[in-house]
Amino acid sequence: IGRKEEQKMIQQFSNKDHLGTGEFLGRTASSWGLILLFYLVFYGFLAAMFLLTMWVMLLTLDDNVPKHQDRVPSPGLVIRPHAAEISFNRSNPADYSGYVQQLHQFLQPYEDSRQEQNELCLVGEYTLQDGEPLKKACQFKRSLLRYCSGLSDTSFGYSDGKPCVLIKMNRIIGLKPIGDPYVNCTSKGNAPLEMLYFPSDGRIDKMFFPYYGKKAHPDYVQPLVAVKLLLTKEDYNVEQTVECKLEGSDLRNNDDRDKSLGRVIFRVKVFQ
Ligand SMILES: *[C@@H]1O[C@H](CO)[C@@H](O)[C@H](O)[C@H]1NC(C)=O
Ligand SMILES: *[C@@H]1O[C@H](CO)[C@@H](O)[C@H](O)[C@H]1NC(C)=O
Repeated sequence: IGRKEEQKMIQQFSNKDHLGTGEFLGRTASSWGLILLFYLVFYGFLAAMFLLTMWVMLLTLDDNVPKHQDRVPSPGLVIRPHAAEISFNRSNPADYSGYVQQLHQFLQPYEDSRQEQNELCLVGEYTLQDGEPLKKACQFKRSLLRYCSGLSDTSFGYSDGKPCVLIKMNRIIGLKPIGDPYVNCTSKGNAPLEMLYFPSDGRIDKMFFPYYGKKAHPDYVQPLVAVKLLLTKEDYNVEQTVECKLEGSDLRNNDDRDKSLGRVIFRVKVFQ
């Protein structure tokens, strides 16, 4: 017998054998049944585990969502010029030109001509616009800062030794302060320093809240408070420590762990 014929015979034989015992793809019907049952139970178990996990997660989520919503964090305060100590000789313009430049640059988004394209908002009211996709921004013109606007006095008081410091509240999406927030600064030396606030009384108007985020609220500018330190002869050549706090609202200003929340401390030393 030739080789080819031999192979054919073997093939035929094995085919017959399969048909004879009722096997399909090498397994008997009962074997297939067992496998099917195993996978049915296995996947059923997986599905049940998945559903149970989802159910437990949804339960805890329902509890947590309101908790997170009513605990909007408090904002930190920062100053411009950006420095822990503002120190300069008032007779020496090169000493303070860096501070002055910084302030002019910082106030560029507040340019009156630019702010005139923003909305005039209602004083003392939140500017709520939850429905609109693109949020309007409320006007904050730099001229509001008067002697600290850099407009009439382009050196912000640095040349005559009565420097302005701008106080900015960090942006927090959704923040709506309760009450009427204002900035109150106190000097920590022996004799209290006299200061001027712009806008008057250091008020931060509620119209600038809430902030809706960079994407939805592209023209938004933070409200500012400027403090002009009216230093006198006795105050020169002496380091002054000033602490400014957000008061009049529910915003935190005495957190022991985060000392930037609602307050800022800076030092000023003016030589003459
Ligand atoms: C500012 O703070 C000082 C010191 O805490 C306090 O004596 C003064 O009454 C405050 N001023 C205002 C307007 O709240
Ligand atoms: C401040 O600058 C003036 C002019 O350059 C100089 O006469 C004076 O000594 C300086 N004061 C101090 C405390 O360095």
